[in-house]
Amino acid sequence: MIDKISLDYKLDYDRLGYKLNDNFSYLFDLESTINKPYNYIFGYFEDNKLLGFIHIVLTVDEADLINIVVDDYYRHKKIGTKLIYYVIKRFNLKALTLEVRESNDAVKFYEHLGFEVKRVIPRYYGNENAYLMKKVIWVKDVYIFAIESSCDETSAAIIKNGKDVVSLTINTQIKTHENYGGVVPEIASRMHTEAITYVIDDCIKKSGMIFDDMDAIAVTYTPGLLGSLLVGIEAAKVLALSYNKPLIAVNHIAGHIYANNLEDNSITFPSLGLVVSGGHTEIIYLEDDYNFKILGSTLDDAIGEAYDKVARVLDLKYPGGPNIEKLSKEGKPSYKLPIPMNDDSLNLSFSGLKSSIINLVHNETQRGNEINKADLACSFQTIAVDELTRKVELAIKKYNPKNMIVAGGVSANSYLRDEIIKVCKKYDINLSIPKMLYCTDNAAMIGAAAYPLFKRKEFASFDLNGISTGNIFKF
Ligand code: KG4
Ligand code: ZN
Repeated sequence: MIDKISLDYKLDYDRLGYKLNDNFSYLFDLESTINKPYNYIFGYFEDNKLLGFIHIVLTVDEADLINIVVDDYYRHKKIGTKLIYYVIKRFNLKALTLEVRESNDAVKFYEHLGFEVKRVIPRYYGNENAYLMKKVIWVKDVYIFAIESSCDETSAAIIKNGKDVVSLTINTQIKTHENYGGVVPEIASRMHTEAITYVIDDCIKKSGMIFDDMDAIAVTYTPGLLGSLLVGIEAAKVLALSYNKPLIAVNHIAGHIYANNLEDNSITFPSLGLVVSGGHTEIIYLEDDYNFKILGSTLDDAIGEAYDKVARVLDLKYPGGPNIEKLSKEGKPSYKLPIPMNDDSLNLSFSGLKSSIINLVHNETQRGNEINKADLACSFQTIAVDELTRKVELAIKKYNPKNMIVAGGVSANSYLRDEIIKVCKKYDINLSIPKMLYCTDNAAMIGAAAYPLFKRKEFASFDLNGISTGNIFKF
């Protein structure tokens, strides 16, 4: 047991009546030490016997180690290590510093615990040199300023340590594109150009930070609409150049995957992954950071694309996904539709299902029959999501994963979320799905995906270009 040594202990000779080398006398001179501000002495007790103690002087979030003593009879029982880790944890120390004689055997012990010799103080102990040793526990926080403009959201974010969202601004163009039933690339890039400066300005102002505080500037460079990507890329280059910061090029789909590291979520490797967005539907295996393998993918339409196309024939506004989801809640899965890729592979297909709905609507309208849109939306969603879930279950049986993540815009769908949650419960798998806000396009996920690249110092050059169809598995 480790406890603060108080004057009560000091007075209880029986309790302290154990031989602690010469240093024992030190304890009896405690009265003045204990009463000094910022001085702390903790003892290591077993059966009420004091076997060792540590004395530190605290300065805000660092400390000087003044003395650490362990009874000779109890050496090599890691009592010293325990005392050191105890004070680090107790005071949430960012660094611990000490002075020790050059010839002292304890130098090795301190080195083993991660202390480094920072300075040699000549003849500090009479004729002998002293080492000033320091253990740094705290690693500097990394702030990444991230920009996303690959499709119809202009967004900027500040992400701390790849995880905490310090600031996030999203400007969506949905209302404009709604009028056209989909994203019009030319309009999208113009709107990004108009919005980008305001979005960046808003994001940094809200944070209370300045660009000099940032460690890097990250930006989505692929995949996406070329003209839109270029707006974000140019803005990022200007910031990186003006503030002399490294530039990080981020793959948008990697962004969706790393959205699973934001806030309370985190990706545990290895993990099974389901990527479901407007352009991607893949079952993947995440070996490690940026080491992903495709296990199965759609052979034609992505699931988000199918949602959007089906929504259009049902006269629902763009983006179709959320509107189909809403309408489905009022319907029943009563329409008989073909089940896509009814096989045991991990591949998927949604174009047959989509076409059968388009034909059905077309034929029924020609015959003058009314369509129950809510039922049809519900039938489509049930079949599409059930098929996805069935394939995920096949992958689980084959690869036996302990962790799973879901990524991409369609992961905002609550029916999909519920079904995947059920499967993961059934197989006792830890599941991570990003918070709703981070499922659809945003710059926070780009900052999260940039962090492992920052740690590896994988920086982009200033001739970085946009690539419209980037492969997520060749970063
Ligand atoms: O990931 P994302 O924001 O953009 C791409 O990177 O593609 O995904 C957009 C897609 C759109 O197809 C949209 O209809 C779909 O995600 N989506 C949804 C939902 N919210 C967005 N699909 C189904 N249910 C939703 N709640
Ligand atoms: Zn996206």
